[in-house]
Amino acid sequence: MYDGGPDLGRNDECWCGSGKKYKKCHADFDERLQELYLAGEEVPARSLLKTAADIEGVKRSAEVNVGALDHVAARIAPGVTTEEIDRWVHDYTVEHGAVPAPLNYEGFPKSVCTSVNEVVCHGIPSSDEVLREGDIVNVDCSTLKDGYFSDSSRMFMIGEVAPERAELVQVTKEAVEAGLAAVKPWGHLGDIGAVVWKHAKDHGYSVVREFGGHGIGLEFHEDPFVSFTTKANTGMVLVPGLMFTIEPMINMGKRRIDMTDPNGWTVRTADGKPTAQWEVQIVITEDGYELLSW
Ligand code: MF3
Ligand code: CO
Repeated sequence: MYDGGPDLGRNDECWCGSGKKYKKCHADFDERLQELYLAGEEVPARSLLKTAADIEGVKRSAEVNVGALDHVAARIAPGVTTEEIDRWVHDYTVEHGAVPAPLNYEGFPKSVCTSVNEVVCHGIPSSDEVLREGDIVNVDCSTLKDGYFSDSSRMFMIGEVAPERAELVQVTKEAVEAGLAAVKPWGHLGDIGAVVWKHAKDHGYSVVREFGGHGIGLEFHEDPFVSFTTKANTGMVLVPGLMFTIEPMINMGKRRIDMTDPNGWTVRTADGKPTAQWEVQIVITEDGYELLSW
């Protein structure tokens, strides 16, 4: 096969774990992938395509991930420190039999990312950082449960927020929704970024290029990289079983970012203007997609 994986005999057991014969299971599917590959399309390796059992595992992980974000949503308020958010996420996750995926991930010191105002992503929770009325904060929560990863993030507005900030938060959410609406099985990954980018630009905003979504499931970050500055009909084919996140970072000002924080993590807008992000995790299905974490 195109991906270097085995060419199965028609009577062999299918690679997907169904227990069925290959010819009664994924033989036609693989033939379609092979044809697309030969036609010059970017086709995901079959190792990226999740089985039914994988999807069930991710759903159990996502149940905790979504629960942790709901737990934050019920408590976040002016006067809370980002360290407290970290504690809530950590304790909730552990109490539900899971592990916060960021903790010690490539040296990340906390259980969740908290990115306030001009922080684009990877903000590190701190007891020195108190949320104030008017702040906008992204809480990015990722969970490992029984070998399966889930990942999603939400924006929270602290008390009364200036209208232009509320607008940024809302438009960024709409951009994710537009991205979801552009998902078509056997379509292209670039279709998603194209509509996200357009929605941001239509509102005078810019889209960060250096960070984006990612494949996920058996690893925290798998292929593909999901850019949100793409053209329609480009990029990887959206093959059923492909699982990834949609998580654009949209800046009120210019797209440039500042990665010089000595902590090695915190990413800020170069112009110091506010930025927003929402993240969802999906899997491509035969007739659309399934939302796994939000
Ligand atoms: N949750 C982030 C994402 O959406 C990754 C954070 S990596 C960490 O991909 F180490 F900062 F947690
Ligand atoms: Co992510």
